[in-house]
Amino acid sequence: MPVLITSQTVTPPLINLKQLRQRAEMLLSLCGHAQSELSILLLDDPDMAQLNEQYRNKKGPTNVLAFAMQEGGGEHLPAELLGDVIISLDTASREAASDRVTLHQRVTILLIHGLLHLLGYDHERSPGEAQGMAEREKHLLNQLLTEERRGKMVSLAINVDHIATLRQARGIAEPDPVLAAGICELAGAQGIVVHLREDRRHIQDRDVRLLRQTVKTKLNLEMGATEEIIGIALEIKPDMITLVPEKRKELTTEGGLNVAGQKKKLQEVIARMHKGGIPVSLFIDPDSRQISASHEVGATFVEIHTGRYCDAVTEQARDKEFSLIATAAEEAYEMGLRVNAGHGLNYLNTRRVAGLGTIEELSIGHAIMARSILVGLDQAVREMLALLPAG
Ligand code: PXP
Repeated sequence: MPVLITSQTVTPPLINLKQLRQRAEMLLSLCGHAQSELSILLLDDPDMAQLNEQYRNKKGPTNVLAFAMQEGGGEHLPAELLGDVIISLDTASREAASDRVTLHQRVTILLIHGLLHLLGYDHERSPGEAQGMAEREKHLLNQLLTEERRGKMVSLAINVDHIATLRQARGIAEPDPVLAAGICELAGAQGIVVHLREDRRHIQDRDVRLLRQTVKTKLNLEMGATEEIIGIALEIKPDMITLVPEKRKELTTEGGLNVAGQKKKLQEVIARMHKGGIPVSLFIDPDSRQISASHEVGATFVEIHTGRYCDAVTEQARDKEFSLIATAAEEAYEMGLRVNAGHGLNYLNTRRVAGLGTIEELSIGHAIMARSILVGLDQAVREMLALLPAG
């Protein structure tokens, strides 16, 4: 096994260890050491302070230590055994907060630093070496992030609620959202989304039941966390659910869920869904408090609300909202959450969000349905798909 990660922290680390391993493997490969073995140990400050004192005669914790296998009597060991990089997650968390980066990013930077030490770089030998090492670190981080996001495919999940709204306007059987969902799938959509509202203003129970039988890609049931709808979800078993706040008077979902304000309740709902084998996504504003809370309550996905970005009327406001989405998606991705996004996306503003490299799926309804009236549903779906990175 080329990369071995051990965590000896008191509480489980708030980073995705699988992703850290993948990054470490990618770094080894970028450094020309794909076959080498590396061990990563994650500690809290007290244990780090002990090692720092024992091996470097220094008081207090440090952020990273690297012990090369070939040093201190290990010269006879195979060169592929690189050694250990030891990282204090307490120190890394403080540094992440002061540098305004995610914990995962800080840990990645410390890992690169430690790895370069194992490969013979030493910033303490001379200012020239320190500069060379800093440049190599920066370059490796860029290479790593570029590689990681290269060719990430983004899926399109289509919300067919509007078809049901049109049907309900006449109170007859047409148009049928079930049929529309089939057309979307045939045109290449990778998922279908419906919102079963408490007031049943558009999607009906019959629609969800039939869609469960007919959708071949992935059925995502959007819903408020009410007992009645939870019961329906557990019975019908969509491929996933997305929890949204629901207000009777709103025209469409207005804001994100306040996950931080109802952690206990959401934790219980998520646990019930997981017991029923249903992954849960939480629809949240691009806000780091809500992302950490979503991670804490055990969500599998977050769906980042893109509404404010889509509604922004000036270039400046749009850029500001976009950067909030980019940061939030990055934060969630690095925490190990899977990241979707949606609301208000159209043929002009989607490409930028889809290009972030951290977002797995976009949930789009209104723009596609509006265009379908003019060009047909099949064409409207294909035009949206053409805007997405396709792997
Ligand atoms: N995501 C969520 C959680 C939503 O509530 C909606 C609207 O139903 C969408 C995405 C799709 O938004 P739009 O219809 O503006 O594309």
